[in-house]
Amino acid sequence: HLEKKGTVVCVGGGTGIAVLHPITRGLKDVGNHVIGIIGARTQNLLIMEDNMRAASHDLRICTDDGSYGHHGFVTDVLKEILDSQDVAMVVAIGPIPMMKFVCGITKEYGVSTMVSLNPIMVDGTGMCGGCRVTVGGKTKYACVDGPDFDGHQVDFDEAMRRQQMYKNEEQEAHQCRIGLGRA
Ligand code: FES
Repeated sequence: HLEKKGTVVCVGGGTGIAVLHPITRGLKDVGNHVIGIIGARTQNLLIMEDNMRAASHDLRICTDDGSYGHHGFVTDVLKEILDSQDVAMVVAIGPIPMMKFVCGITKEYGVSTMVSLNPIMVDGTGMCGGCRVTVGGKTKYACVDGPDFDGHQVDFDEAMRRQQMYKNEEQEAHQCRIGLGRA
């Protein structure tokens, strides 16, 4: 569902930039004026800058530690853009807290926002329930109903809680893998 809408802002954080890139390129191809904003904790973790530059008319870069580009969050730059020009749509893909804060801002400005959710998935068929999210008060399964949703309807707090559910097991598995690597 990529349509010509006018000016669109594509916001990506961390590895979410890889998912955002083809959408950004598609939005440009159908005739939108595309502003990209990409961010990472530090310069070394920033991915696909060249690809995003080619896919956007204007690319802004942010790092949390100020090692490259704007020192601060993608939301700071998004706010500046929304304050200075008309934006028809925002696409935000990255860590859940980033998408939550982007949606909080765009809601204030009344700008529709699409997000792409990445909950834990097991079977990918809509049967296991692992990827359950709440959107507009209704249960949805990101694997079959998404992963793209209207960001203003997503219950991000629940999504964050669910993403932490297996944190201990994930850490144990990670430690085990490191141990095996050393053996
Ligand atoms: Fe199992 Fe979506 S991954 S329901």
